[in-house]
Amino acid sequence: MLCLTGISELLTMPRGPRDASDPLGLVTDAALVIDAGRVHWLGPRGDLPRELAGIATQDLGGRVVLPGLVDPHTHLVFAGDRASDFEARCRGETYESIARRGGGIRTTVRATRAASFEALFEGARPRLTSLLEAGVTTVEIKSGYGLDVATELRQLGVIRALGRAGPQRVRATLLFHLMPEAYATDRPAGIAALSELMALAVSEGLADDVDVFCEEGAFAPHEADELLSAARAHGLAIKAHVDQRSATGFASRAAALGARSLEHLEQLDDAGIDAMAAAGTVAVLLPSASLFLGDAARPPVSRLRARGVPMALATDLNPGSSPTFDPWLVATLGCTWYGLTPFEALRGLTAEAARALGLEDGTGSLVAGGPADLCVARGARWQDLLYGLGHRPIAETWIGGQRVVRA
Ligand code: NIG
Ligand code: FE
Repeated sequence: MLCLTGISELLTMPRGPRDASDPLGLVTDAALVIDAGRVHWLGPRGDLPRELAGIATQDLGGRVVLPGLVDPHTHLVFAGDRASDFEARCRGETYESIARRGGGIRTTVRATRAASFEALFEGARPRLTSLLEAGVTTVEIKSGYGLDVATELRQLGVIRALGRAGPQRVRATLLFHLMPEAYATDRPAGIAALSELMALAVSEGLADDVDVFCEEGAFAPHEADELLSAARAHGLAIKAHVDQRSATGFASRAAALGARSLEHLEQLDDAGIDAMAAAGTVAVLLPSASLFLGDAARPPVSRLRARGVPMALATDLNPGSSPTFDPWLVATLGCTWYGLTPFEALRGLTAEAARALGLEDGTGSLVAGGPADLCVARGARWQDLLYGLGHRPIAETWIGGQRVVRA
């Protein structure tokens, strides 16, 4: 057992019914006791039960402690880069025009198909380490840069191997990103082939969830519907990239199918918001992607708030639209660019992000019995977490009661 003290502010980020005036679940001058990788006790230091008074103590020196961050949307297993796309966009080409001439996502698909399992694994490791240094202890990673059976399964295998290698906890998502070129002229046959790929991934235990990119140039709503319905039939949780660049109207259908989360949502309509509210679907917002694409559209945050739709934040770490490793930049942009409150942004990186991944074991919060995954800030006030751009506010990251990063 280990008792952490010297916690100026403990942000517990409660799930479920909570005190609306205290969304962070703030405890000042706190102590937190770790036993066998889990939180054993937490609360005001003065309330530490007498039987715990004699255990080993570590004084953190008067700093903020919060749950380990959860990044619920990344594409961090890929090969190559998209520097030439970036340059082309800076000269005036659009994300869509680059994609139409065979660049964009297809550039990354060519590089990923050519990369070995080891190359993909070794390429992903430093990206996970960067997230770890920012305090991220649980990461969702998507496939979607293979499009063919061999490469998609290789990507998912790499994602599983990254989870086994640790230290972060990893969730694997099978992403249907684009129609494979081989089916360009027979899309129904393509959907059938992708459904077979899904069955294979399921039988090999390689996917926790299924995601689909519903967008002009990717999958049409009826195709996305077919793929997500098949995923439901396999018992997998579903989500979708929807309403990012064009308004597809697919959000309401996806929510009705039981989508656990929907991502991007810059063009989301009222019917979609209502359906998400009714289904309890989490909105995963990706402000660094809009910023990097120079896209002025923003998701309807005030209407999502008014309808009680939970909002999470994610890096969307990928080589094309969001080459960032910084969830804190994302959170600050969530406030300044999307209009989240600081409370919403901090919950969006933690408790709501865990909800977006369906994690019900206390991940994303600090709660007795839950995992002792946490980060220690450099500063003594929670306000300093968001006050900066690229300011690296985290000093230490702990997973399962072990310190894995020390600044
Ligand atoms: O979430 N929108 C689709 N997928 C990614 C972009 C992937 C890429 O451009 O490589 C996204 O923004
Ligand atoms: Fe994405």
